[in-house]
Amino acid sequence: MKARQEKLSARFRPNWLNPTVLKVLKNRHQLQVNADEIDEDEVGFFLYDLDALEQHLSELMQQDVIKLWFAVKANPLSRVITTLAEQGFNFDVASQGELSQVLAQNVAAKRILNTGPAKSKRQMKAFLQQGVNTFVVESLLQLQWLNESAIELDCKPQVLLRVQLQWPDGEKNPLGGTEVTPFGLSCDEWQTINVSDFPALNINGLHIFQWGNMLSNEKMFHLWSQMVEPLTQLAEQVGIKLEVLDLGGGLGVDYLQKGQTLSWQQIVDDLAKIKARAGVKELWLELGRYAVAESGYYVTSVVDKKQNFQQQQLVLAGGINHLLRPAITEQAFPAVMLRESTESLVNFDVHGPLCTSLDKLGRLAFPQDIAVDDQLVFGLSGAYGFTESMPFFLCHQIAAEYVLKNGEVELVRAAEPAAWYLR
Ligand SMILES: Cc1ncc(COP(=O)(O)O)c(C=O)c1O
Repeated sequence: MKARQEKLSARFRPNWLNPTVLKVLKNRHQLQVNADEIDEDEVGFFLYDLDALEQHLSELMQQDVIKLWFAVKANPLSRVITTLAEQGFNFDVASQGELSQVLAQNVAAKRILNTGPAKSKRQMKAFLQQGVNTFVVESLLQLQWLNESAIELDCKPQVLLRVQLQWPDGEKNPLGGTEVTPFGLSCDEWQTINVSDFPALNINGLHIFQWGNMLSNEKMFHLWSQMVEPLTQLAEQVGIKLEVLDLGGGLGVDYLQKGQTLSWQQIVDDLAKIKARAGVKELWLELGRYAVAESGYYVTSVVDKKQNFQQQQLVLAGGINHLLRPAITEQAFPAVMLRESTESLVNFDVHGPLCTSLDKLGRLAFPQDIAVDDQLVFGLSGAYGFTESMPFFLCHQIAAEYVLKNGEVELVRAAEPAAWYLR
């Protein structure tokens, strides 16, 4: 009897769904701020639980081994950024848009670093003029341009060189497969420079990040351990006093609900070892999904249900126009039907509203009585959701964004019709 109850409650409220969020979603009237204007069937919305986010971030900050940056690309919503800023995170921005958004939340420019392969001289100079003083440089041209800009503006930015390593044959490089990517340069390329040729730059660190959504502490530690020797060698060869090692992001979350989670304490312990082995003063991580994914939810409704050949299908009001990630990774976000049902679970192919077979959020199990207008809640959607998606195709509505703070729901962005951007 007890086992059955547990199974039922797991179905109604899986681990990833916070009970407060569930309660809020069940009382949806709280969210219908613009009820008159919004055609409910069309709406998909995000809800970020800032209370849970705050709690999670404060746990990540309780250590003195790692300096933490937030990769803004994971979620640039103003209220998410202010929550991270209040908890003491710094910010990794990859465009002028991200920089402006972080500065607009009153974050000091000295808490911001700039990564990304597409940095023009004009952009780097503009960043310096806006007070950014830390750059991850990804090419020889970037290095030269930053040096020139620093001379012109009479400043001395801190620079980390982004390194790309090759894995032995047959081993997969998780961020770029076996491909060479534009993220940084090989040791051979960096070895052609001499840091004394860039007197306007304080080149005191290396950056490396070539893995994604890692879910095993052992694998992470193995990867990080492999980096130390080639990186310290490179620093010696080009004359860098290696003070900072930035290991990027890549800490994973359990999208497929296989019970694989990273232990943060183990990461801290492992990185303390890496820090000592590399002999650096500072070890940095730029977290994206590990910081924010679990506090976000995406909600949309069923608009059609059918059997096609042997397959049960659901068509939803929102799909990859709001939540693209499943189409590019073939990993579904976990999901649950909001209405409770004791019917047995059936696998459905879950499609969005776009005219492309790419618009599929996965094959997911729902009670067999799921029906048109039922609401679905997708978890772990706080990272790479709203801004990673393709909202314009087919002119559907832009998703609304809500936050939950001190138990209260607040609208940050109302859903917008296509007329908002069409010209
Ligand atoms: C330079 C850099 N740092 C950090 C991240 C964050 O990665 P993750 O979300 O896997 O933590 C990214 C993501 O693409 C990145 O490009």
